[in-house]
Amino acid sequence: MACRICSGRLHQFADFGSQPVSDAFVTPGDPAEEYMFRLAVGVCESCSMVQLLEEVPRERMFHEGYPYLSSGSAVMREHFWSLAERFLATELSGDDPFVVELGCNDGTMLQRVAEAGVRHLGVEPSGGVADLAAAKGVRVRKDFFEAATAAAIRAEDGPADVVYAANTLCHIPYMDSILSGVATLLRPGGVFVFEDPYLGDIVERASYDQIYDEHFYFFSARSVRGMARRHGFELVDVERLPVHGGEVRYTLARQGARTPSPAVAELLAAEDAAQISDPATLRAFAERVARNRDELVALLTRLRDEGARVYGYGATAKSATVLNYCGIGPDLVTFVSDTTPAKQGRLTPGSHIPVRGPEAFADPYPDYALLFAWNHAEEIMAKEEAFREAGGAWILYVPEVRLV
Ligand code: SAM
Ligand code: TMP
Ligand code: ZN
Repeated sequence: MACRICSGRLHQFADFGSQPVSDAFVTPGDPAEEYMFRLAVGVCESCSMVQLLEEVPRERMFHEGYPYLSSGSAVMREHFWSLAERFLATELSGDDPFVVELGCNDGTMLQRVAEAGVRHLGVEPSGGVADLAAAKGVRVRKDFFEAATAAAIRAEDGPADVVYAANTLCHIPYMDSILSGVATLLRPGGVFVFEDPYLGDIVERASYDQIYDEHFYFFSARSVRGMARRHGFELVDVERLPVHGGEVRYTLARQGARTPSPAVAELLAAEDAAQISDPATLRAFAERVARNRDELVALLTRLRDEGARVYGYGATAKSATVLNYCGIGPDLVTFVSDTTPAKQGRLTPGSHIPVRGPEAFADPYPDYALLFAWNHAEEIMAKEEAFREAGGAWILYVPEVRLV
């Protein structure tokens, strides 16, 4: 298999075996066989893009019943609202501005833009979440964004000042079509802004559960700059973000249109110093991950043997990789508590652990809670203070297995 960006040679560095679709929660009693694929990851020897070696067809992941909701975390709502305010005050402050969001999901970010009366369009293929956005007054097109979609939008609405995508661009293997679409859609001085989990944070924290079907690419400043240049764009800004376990917000502009900020050169230099895309670094990451798995399984097995009760917290897409790679099932984790309506009453994909609403978590509290939504740890631990007061302890596994 060749690099999806530049056709270069891929060097595989980790293999998580056969995995289900991470957001395909199973209806109990449904006899349908689960779709499985091989979750392995490699780095391109030419352009340094880290990517999955097998692609899951997009309709298997993003469809009417796609359960993930952007609005499920108060911190993320604030994050998107403050970005909307920033766009409105800067890139969208001109005459009749227009912004397009790829993967707008339930409309959390665009809701603010709509309230400000600014022209916008969300492009969202997952029908259920797109309906939620529309109900908030957001203008949505139920579609996968790609070159043809971009041409249709441009014909209908004219050029965009901003194209934005959060936790969506890294989900899309067909990058040539996306970037040529963005080039069609953006006005000459416009910007393409996207934010996704950062390879540097994944390597540093050994956060291997960022690797699952939907996360096809693991971006760095170096790989993004190379990808951008292939389509006439330049990387003009980078901003590290604390959300979702460490992300970077990248800004692309047409080559020559804007001067890159010093932050770009700084991040490129830091990446070179840490050698984050070096095969040796990535192999060391994989070894650390295998040790992490052994420690987590040993801890959960010991707790079960001692008769302790362990629940999961947050039926995240990330947890699919942990559960299926570590072979954790309902014998080790009784159920997983989650606030998302479409996940409740279902079973976790592959590992078949029941998912229940948050009320079940306190009724009664378990002895231990395995925090799958560790990227929301601060918000969750504050909300669940009573769990620790009742004698409970959190199990974390990133960057290492520990109790807190
Ligand atoms: N932007 C939101 C956020 O950050 O919370 C949602 C992120 S969610 C993980 C990824 C979203 O991208 C899903 O709602 C999915 O339906 C959408 N998506 C996947 N492929 C897409 C494509 N080609 N064009 C537009 N949206 C896409
Ligand atoms: P994410 O890490 O991909 O954002 O997914 C977080 C999951 O955790 C999502 O299914 C919602 C769930 N969740 C809770 O159950 N309780 C919470 O307090 C938060 C913040 C998230
Ligand atoms: Zn490449």
